[in-house]
Amino acid sequence: MINDIHPLAEGVRLRPATLGDAESFAETLTRSRAYMRRWDPVRPEAFYTPEGQVRRLTALLAEREAGRAMPWVLADDEDRVVGAMTLASIELGVFRNARLGYWIDVDRAGRGLATAAVAQVCELARDGLGLHRIEAGTVLDNAASQRVLAKCGFELYGTAPRYLHINGAWQDHRMFQRILHDAPPQR
Ligand SMILES: CC(C)(COP(=O)(O)OP(=O)(O)OC[C@H]1O[C@@H](n2cnc3c(N)ncnc32)[C@H](O)[C@@H]1OP(=O)(O)O)[C@@H](O)C(=O)NCCC(=O)NCCS
Repeated sequence: MINDIHPLAEGVRLRPATLGDAESFAETLTRSRAYMRRWDPVRPEAFYTPEGQVRRLTALLAEREAGRAMPWVLADDEDRVVGAMTLASIELGVFRNARLGYWIDVDRAGRGLATAAVAQVCELARDGLGLHRIEAGTVLDNAASQRVLAKCGFELYGTAPRYLHINGAWQDHRMFQRILHDAPPQR
């Protein structure tokens, strides 16, 4: 289930990321660079190259192997990357928690894709990974991201001062969580 392909909308599907996505990632991230700037860390120039994406994905896929991350892409009908969803800092035991991050290609934004993908990732986290809770943080004025989280059943639980270094500064974040189920941890 966790490794399956999940149709979302408009010919776009959610599937696990692969090293072969590096070139497509570089292309879409370059196209979306200005659009993402306000919500993203400052990236080195190499981040926007296929080689930089190979390095990033190699590290991320090693995290997946270790059970600490689950990276998906949103792929169009030509299998080009048009967005990404990542569960990071996956922890099991009595926490069974992960942090969710996501973005959508500038040319595909505003059509419900993030909402469909976040809803699907929550299902996979619950039924495929057995997680109990997902958390996500947004900078205070990222209204679109906050709306996506609200539509997907996340609740606001607080504000974290100077939480992440975004767009060149340590920025306060609104913190959201979704409890996925209340079954006890599996052993
Ligand atoms: C945030 C982001 C992922 C949303 O993706 P998307 O596919 O456009 O999201 P959706 O279309 O599913 O939903 C967006 C919702 O936000 C609303 N929205 C968009 N811009 C808004 C704004 N400036 N103020 C208030 N609401 C806004 C839309 O109307 C929609 O809500 P609705 O369905 O009730 O009308 C996308 O804008 C993005 O990639 N942003 C840059 C990276 C980023 O911010 N990532 C998240 C970091 S926490």
